[in-house]
Amino acid sequence: MFEFLMGVEFLLLLLLVGVSGATGYAANHLKYVGESESSFRIWLKAAKVGVYIGTALIMIWALDIMIIFVNYGWLFIMDRVLNLMPLLSLPAAIVLIFALPNLSRETNKKSLLFFIVSVHVMTVGVALAFFLVTIDIPAVPNTKDILIYGGALIISVGLLWLYHGRRLKVLENRLPRISIRIVRGAVYLILVFGVAITGLVISQKMSEFPDRMNMVHHHTADFGGGDSILDENTNPHHDSHDSSKSISVVELKGPQTDIPDKKYVLYAETKKIRLASGESIEAWTFNGQSPGPKLVANEGDLVEVQLVNKNIDSGVTIHWHGVDVPNGEDGVAGMTQDAVMPGESYTYRFVVKEAGTHWYHSHQQSSIQVQKGLFGAFIIYPSSQHETKTMDTTIVAHDWITPDGRNIPALDTADTIQRKMINSGTPVRLRLVNADNLTRTFSLNGVPFKVVAIDGYELNEPGTLTTSLLRIGGGGRYDIEFIMPDTAVTLAMLMEGKPIGIVYSPDGQGKQNVLDEGEILDITKYGLPAQAPFNTSTVFDRTFTLILDQTYFGVYNGEAGQQWVINGKTFPDTPTLMVKEGDLVKTTFVNRSFADHPMHLHGHHVQVISKNGKPISGSPLVLDTVNIEPGETFEVAFLANNPGLWMDHCHNLDHALRGMTMHVAYENIYTPFAIGSETGNSPE
Ligand code: C2O
Ligand code: CU
Repeated sequence: MFEFLMGVEFLLLLLLVGVSGATGYAANHLKYVGESESSFRIWLKAAKVGVYIGTALIMIWALDIMIIFVNYGWLFIMDRVLNLMPLLSLPAAIVLIFALPNLSRETNKKSLLFFIVSVHVMTVGVALAFFLVTIDIPAVPNTKDILIYGGALIISVGLLWLYHGRRLKVLENRLPRISIRIVRGAVYLILVFGVAITGLVISQKMSEFPDRMNMVHHHTADFGGGDSILDENTNPHHDSHDSSKSISVVELKGPQTDIPDKKYVLYAETKKIRLASGESIEAWTFNGQSPGPKLVANEGDLVEVQLVNKNIDSGVTIHWHGVDVPNGEDGVAGMTQDAVMPGESYTYRFVVKEAGTHWYHSHQQSSIQVQKGLFGAFIIYPSSQHETKTMDTTIVAHDWITPDGRNIPALDTADTIQRKMINSGTPVRLRLVNADNLTRTFSLNGVPFKVVAIDGYELNEPGTLTTSLLRIGGGGRYDIEFIMPDTAVTLAMLMEGKPIGIVYSPDGQGKQNVLDEGEILDITKYGLPAQAPFNTSTVFDRTFTLILDQTYFGVYNGEAGQQWVINGKTFPDTPTLMVKEGDLVKTTFVNRSFADHPMHLHGHHVQVISKNGKPISGSPLVLDTVNIEPGETFEVAFLANNPGLWMDHCHNLDHALRGMTMHVAYENIYTPFAIGSETGNSPE
C-alpha cells in the first residue's frame, strides 16, 4: 500500500510538471493579442489557458490528498506539509484567487502581466517541488529547505516580473515572427541544458571522495539530545590526539596473549566454484570454498582467526557480523584496520559472548566482496546444553552472479532442489543465514515448526507454526526447529520462477512440496513477552531519529545513479551518532523509500521497542540487523557498552555503497586509519 501511494504521488508530480509547463507556455501566448485578432480567438486562447490551469490546480489538490501519509506518522508527511505543499499550493492559490478572475474582465497590460507572472511562478513552484522530491530529498529538520526553496520561489517572482514587464512593452502585443521564436526557443533550450550539464559536472566533481578522509565525520555530529561530547575527537582541527583521555581504536583489542580455545586460518583467494546446476562462478573464497568454512565456537571461547590474503588484489578484512567484538577486532577497512593486501596477513582475537547463528564477511569493498563469496557462517554454541542428538545444519542464502552477468540465487551453492536424508524422530535445527542484499522469503512445508532464534537471540516461548512464511532481511538469521516426521519436509526459498530448496526425508527420496503462499510471520507479535532491558517507559540519555529515503537520480562519489539517504544526506554527510559509555540510546528508523533497509549496527545488539508506533507484543527481540520495510517505523534501543567507532549501515550493501552509511562514535575514541584512494581502504 505504502509503495503504491508513493508511486501515485510520484506519477502525479511527474504529470503535473508536464501540465504546468504547458500552462506556462499557453499563458505566455496571451501576451500576443494582435490588433486584428477576433475576440473569439482571444477567448479561445484564454479558455485553453483556463483548462490547463484547471488541470494543474486539480492535480495540486490531488497531491494534497497525500496527507493520508499521516497514517504512517508525522515524519512521513513532514516534508510534504512544510516543503511540498507551500511550493505547490501558494502560487496556485494566487492564480486561482487573484489572477484568474482578473483575466475575464477587461484585460489591460497590468492584469495580463500579473496573470502571466503568477502562472509562471506556479510552474516554477512545481519544478522546484519535483526537484526537491526526486533529486534533493528534504533535509531533517526542514528549516534549511524552507529557506532555500522559498527563497528561490520569491526570487523567481522578481525575475519573471522584470522579464515579462519588459517584453510586454517592447513587443507591442504582437506575436514575433516564427523565425525569431525558433531562435529564441533554441537559445532557451541551450541555456537550460548548459546549466543542467554544468550542474551535473560540478556535482560529479564535488561528490568524489577525497583521496584520504577519516570515516567518522564529526562535522555531522548528532548528540541525540544528550550533552554534546566535545573533545579532541570531535574537533576536526586537532590532529595530535595526545590527550591522555583519547584512545585509538587499535588499543581496543581482544586478549593478546592467552591461549585461544579455537584457532582458524582463513585464506582469501580467487577460485572457480560450481553450483549444483553445473553453472560455474568466478568466486572469491575463503579456503577455496564459498560459503567459507563454517566457524564454530562455544560461548566464552577465546577465538583466534588468522586472515591470509593470497590474491585478492583490492585487499580483504573480516567483520564478525552479530558478534560484539572489541572495536579493534571489528574488521572495517579504513576504520579499525587497513585492508589486508595480497601476501599479507592479519590476526583477530576475541572472546565470544553471544551464542547463536552469526556470520562473517569481508568489510573491504563489501558490496563487491560479499557478492563474490567472501563470507561464511559463524556458529556459537551455548555453553550449557549441547544436544548431540540434534541434527544441526546451517544454510546460507546468497545470490551468485555468473561471468556473463546472470543472477543465480542459491542456498549455499545449491541453485536447484536438493534431497537430504534425516531419520524420522530426529530433532532438527535449521540455521538460515541471509547473506544476500535483498530480503528473502522462506517456507517450510510438511511439519509444524518454531522459529527459535532470530539473529542468534533465543525467542521466548515461540509458538508452533505451520503455514507462516519467513521473511529474512539482508544479513539476518532465523533458526527454526522441528522434529523430523516420517514424511518429507520441504524447505524453500521463494523465488519467481523455479523453486530453490531442500527436501528432507527419512529415505532421502522425498517428493518436493513447496508451500508458496501464507501469511508472513510478524516477529514483533511472535512468542511471549518477558523481562527485557528496555521498554516504552525507559528514559533514554540520547534519542536519534533517522529517516531512510532515496533519491531518484543524482551523482554519488563521482557516479551517476540513485542514492540512498539518511536524513536527506549520503555518507559522509550522514549524522554521526555521538554516545558516551553507559548511555541508554534509542534510535527511531523511518523508512520512506521503496526498498527494505536492513539496518545493522556493529558491536552492539539492539532491542526492538516498537514497530509502527505500537510496542512489540511478543517475545523480546534483540537483533543486530533490523529489517525496515517501506512505510515502517522501528524504535530500537541499546546500551552503549562497547567503546569504539562503529558502523551503522544498511545491509543491502549496494545501498551502503551509495550513501546509506553512518557511524556510532563514542567520545574520546579516534582512528588512525582512513579511507580513500590513497589508503587502499574502501569499506563499502
Ligand atoms: Cu555484516 Cu557492516 O556488516
Ligand atoms: Cu537499504
